Amino acid sequence: MIRINENYLKLASSYLFSDIAKRVSAFQEANPSREVIRLGIGDVTLPLSPSVIRAFHEGVDEMAQKSTFKGYGPEQGYEFLRNAIAENDFAGCDIKPSEVFVSDGSKCDTGNIQELFSNQLKIGVPDPVYPVYVDTNVMAGRTGNFINGRYEGLYYLESTESNGFIPTPPDHDLDLIYLCFPNNPTGATATREQLAAWVEYARTHKALILFDAAYVAFIRDPNLPKSIFEIPGAKEVALEFRSYSKTAGFTGTRCAYTVIPDECRVYDENGNAHKLNQFWNRRHTTKFNGVSYPVQKAAASIYTEEGAREVKTLVDYYLVNAKLIRESLTAVGYSCTGGDNSPYIWVKSSRPSWDFFDYLLNNAGIVCTPGAGFGRCGEGYIRISAFNSLENVKKAMERFPKE
Ligand code: MLT
Repeated sequence: MIRINENYLKLASSYLFSDIAKRVSAFQEANPSREVIRLGIGDVTLPLSPSVIRAFHEGVDEMAQKSTFKGYGPEQGYEFLRNAIAENDFAGCDIKPSEVFVSDGSKCDTGNIQELFSNQLKIGVPDPVYPVYVDTNVMAGRTGNFINGRYEGLYYLESTESNGFIPTPPDHDLDLIYLCFPNNPTGATATREQLAAWVEYARTHKALILFDAAYVAFIRDPNLPKSIFEIPGAKEVALEFRSYSKTAGFTGTRCAYTVIPDECRVYDENGNAHKLNQFWNRRHTTKFNGVSYPVQKAAASIYTEEGAREVKTLVDYYLVNAKLIRESLTAVGYSCTGGDNSPYIWVKSSRPSWDFFDYLLNNAGIVCTPGAGFGRCGEGYIRISAFNSLENVKKAMERFPKE
């Protein structure tokens, strides 16, 4: 008899964004003439930039010639891309190409990485949280059941108005900690001091920080840290996820990478330290065959002067939207976080999240993401994404109800 992994029975029946997509489709079917503006899932809307497209075409053309055709590439990514990443993305952090693992997405990497760890861990997840961090641990059997909006066995690091949506290290032991800055969903950004407190905590507890920096390209404040590796001592206790999805519009193209410094340690049951990098390399080479050559070539093009300028323009465009959303909603009485160094605006409402979601969809034709979908602390909030055209954002702001 084929038996299910019982952990899957603990999960909500569908992933948050699939659930929202279904509701929006049902609304559109019932109201075919209504215009819907999607400010829900953080999916880019602008086309790939000219340098990226040019490199992509060149990559495809190379695959068409016997002399330049490529079969399997290195699982960890082509050297030209790993070198460019190490050279450009971590100024002053001294990251080596061998510490970079190119992949098809940070969503996959954040989900897959936990396969490397014991099932007996104390895991800290933010609340509200990007649902992938939680669901993948449920799938792996690291939690109990879902009770009152939380999984038993996980430690929820509350991000609320009172701590400026930046959780502080707890006064008890954790082994694995998920952090994401600029944050999804709240749009909050952590200062150097706030990250340093987490690094110190991780060093004291021999814990590991999984630092998700998928939205780093939105940081414009020069005082904010862009990488956890800017914090002294972080390399021993942290790894970092980066993605081209939001940085360069690759959500449909798929390319990301994970950095695991040589110094980063993981321990066996006798307390002996091992290099984490070697185990991720082992997994990657066993279960993954690399990102396609044209896609990696396209990704590498953003490290040319022209390519860098073009992708900055893309991000700047969404930042204009984000500012407009934040200012418009503040002007009509909402309290907002994010939207300055982030594409997400976390909006406090007097209504329950899902009620507000339905109200916005039915009355204004606007799709948002209900905060409660990200965790218990998200109740009473909605997340608005800046990924749409300026024209649509302006229209949405005109239709948005007053608080
Ligand atoms: C989001 O809307 O939170 C993101 O698009 C999800 C993702 O990047 O997977």
